[in-house]
Amino acid sequence: MQRLFTGLQPSGALHIGNYFAALKPMIELSQEFPDSMLMVADYHALTSLKDAAELRANIIEVGRDFLAAGVDPQTSIIFKQSDVPDHTELAWIFQTLVSVPFLQQAHAYKDKVAKGLEANAGLFAYPMLMAADILLYDSDIVPVGADQRQHVEYAREAAAKFNHAYGETFKEPRERILDAIATVPGTDGKKMSKSYGNTIPLFGSKDEIAKAVMSIVTDSSGDKPENVYAIHKLFRHGESLENLYAEHKGSYKTLKEALIEDIDALVAPMRARHEAITDEEVKLILVKGGERARERAQTKMAAVREVIGVAI
Ligand code: ADP
Ligand code: TRP
Repeated sequence: MQRLFTGLQPSGALHIGNYFAALKPMIELSQEFPDSMLMVADYHALTSLKDAAELRANIIEVGRDFLAAGVDPQTSIIFKQSDVPDHTELAWIFQTLVSVPFLQQAHAYKDKVAKGLEANAGLFAYPMLMAADILLYDSDIVPVGADQRQHVEYAREAAAKFNHAYGETFKEPRERILDAIATVPGTDGKKMSKSYGNTIPLFGSKDEIAKAVMSIVTDSSGDKPENVYAIHKLFRHGESLENLYAEHKGSYKTLKEALIEDIDALVAPMRARHEAITDEEVKLILVKGGERARERAQTKMAAVREVIGVAI
C-alpha cells in the first residue's frame, strides 16, 4: 500500500494550476490508495501572510475548495498543519542535520526573495518543514507541480541524512509531476500563482473566469494563441482540441470564448457544491482530520525521540 501526501498553502483562492497539479491527482489516485492525506499548509503560509483574519478565512476557504473539488474526507484525511505540532518539532530536528549552504540553494527561496518577499528565517527553513510534513507519515508519493520538485528532493535528502545519523527511520518519497501539467501558465504567460495576480480562479463565477480568460496575453505572430492553447489543453484533448484550433485559426476571440465554456463546464458542478458547504462543516472535517493525523504523527515522533536520545 502506497501513501499519497500533498499540501497547499492557504495564501489565497485556489486556481486551476493548483487543481490540475495537486488536487485532481489526489482525487483520482485516492480511489486506488485510500489512505491519502491532504494538508492545509497554514504554517507555510505564515512565512508570507501576517494578517490573522485573512489567514483564518483562507484556511476555511481552502478546506472548502478541497471538498468541493471532490476530495472524500472518508477515504482521505483532510487536516491543517498547525493542528499537528509534531510537524514543527520534526522540522527543527531536520534543521540541525542540513547545512545553511544546502538551504541557500533552494530555487523557491531565491525566487521569493528576488520578488521582494521578506527573507525571514521561516522562509529560509521552509523546505525542512515541508520535509517533516511528508516524512512524518511515511508518505510514498507526493503529487505537486514542477515548482515543488526540488522541495521533494530536499525531503529525500532530509530522510537520508537522518537515516545516516540515527539508523533507518524514514522512507524516501517520490514526487509525482505530470508532464502536461508541470507548469500551468497564468494570464500573463508566466507561471500561474496565487501571489502574482495572474490566475484563473478555480471557484470563480463565470464572469470572473471570462474576465481572466479575456485578459490572457496573446502573441500575434502565429495562428495559435500559445498561452490560450496551453490552458485549453487541460480542459479539451486530442482531436477535439486540434480541430477547434484548426477551424478557428487566428480567431483569438472565438478560441477564448470556447475556453471560457470549457472551463465553466468543468467548474460549474464544483462551484455549486462549493456554495453549499458551510464553514461549520469545513471546521468539523479539519478537526476530525487533525485527530487522525495526530495519532499517526505521534507514533512516528515517539520513535524519532527515542533514536535521537531525547526520550530518557
Ligand atoms: P501558488 O504558487 O499558487 O501559491 P502553492 O505554492 O500553494 O501555489 O502550490 C500548491 C500546489 O499547486 C503545488 O503542488 C504547486 O506545485 C502547484 N502549482 C502552483 N502553481 C502551479 C502552476 N502554475 N502550474 C502547475 N502547478 C502549480
Ligand atoms: N510548499 C508547497 C507549495 O507551496 C505546499 C506544501 C507544504 C506541500 N507542505 C507540503 C506540498 C507537503 C507537498 C507536500 O506548493
